[in-house]
Amino acid sequence: MTGDRATLLAVAGLHVRSPEGRDLVSDVSFTLDAGERLGLIGESGSGKSMTALAITGLTPPGMAVSGSVVFDAPGLGRTEVVGAGERRLTSLRGRATSTVFQEPLTALDPLMRVGRQVAEPLRRRRGLRGRALDAAVTAALEEVRLPDPERIARAYPHEISGGQRQRVAIAMALACDPALLIADEPTTALDVTVQADVLALLDGLVRERGMALLFISHDLAVVSRIAERVIVLKNGAAVESGSVDDVVNAPRHPYTRQLVGSARRLDSALDDVLDDWRAP
Ligand SMILES: Nc1ncnc2c1ncn2[C@@H]1O[C@H](COP(=O)(O)OP(=O)(O)O)[C@@H](O)[C@H]1O
Ligand SMILES: [Mg+2]
Repeated sequence: MTGDRATLLAVAGLHVRSPEGRDLVSDVSFTLDAGERLGLIGESGSGKSMTALAITGLTPPGMAVSGSVVFDAPGLGRTEVVGAGERRLTSLRGRATSTVFQEPLTALDPLMRVGRQVAEPLRRRRGLRGRALDAAVTAALEEVRLPDPERIARAYPHEISGGQRQRVAIAMALACDPALLIADEPTTALDVTVQADVLALLDGLVRERGMALLFISHDLAVVSRIAERVIVLKNGAAVESGSVDDVVNAPRHPYTRQLVGSARRLDSALDDVLDDWRAP
């Protein structure tokens, strides 16, 4: 916490147990302030996505979730997600928090033109219709730096590139102006140049809108580019947390040291492309 920002999300003793009785997330606790950028890192299977799903009340059927996840988003009041009913959760989604997933195709309907899909949350949540709606769709696609937004709006998802699809998914996630954006491996499926562009885009959008960000990745190099603070997950438990600088420069847990080692390798690959937009 930074003191002058309000706490937006408080996760305490979060636990997710599978139907077979396996502990997938164990006693995870952290807080996230309005506008703060937190990274969640760990190898594949460490429980990152399950943590994100529990935060949004979307764990698969049969999972036993315990502990506490409290959102305190401006205008929405305080909500305990654990144990909340579907109606309460629906009112939170999109406004308190929205998620961008690794594979943009999971967020997109293959049979629907991109523009109609971006229009849907704008129509539903902001009540826009007709030309106001068309203009909002164009603006949303422009905001994620898609070239020729009118053409993209008329295209089907398979007619645009993977990077463009992820930008569309980001536009949809931002449609209701969430206080917290959860990005779960948003660049993992993209090649390294496109990764850098999408990271730069997310970084800019989060800053411009003052959104909080929970950025999830198996890759410390990527997380350290965008987050201020990180939590390291291993087998569902948080083994280390701290500022990005501390964790990268002085990792305490052997597992974190291993992540730092592999991060250095990708980091040099990212450096060339990222230096361009980091420079003033
Ligand atoms: N629907 C499910 N049913 C049972 N186990 C699951 C399910 N989804 C994920 N898991 C298990 O939960 C653990 C954490 O998975 P996940 O949160 O997806 O990891 P990560 O996102 O860090 O790669 C893994 O061991 C995975 O096999
Ligand atoms: Mg995952």
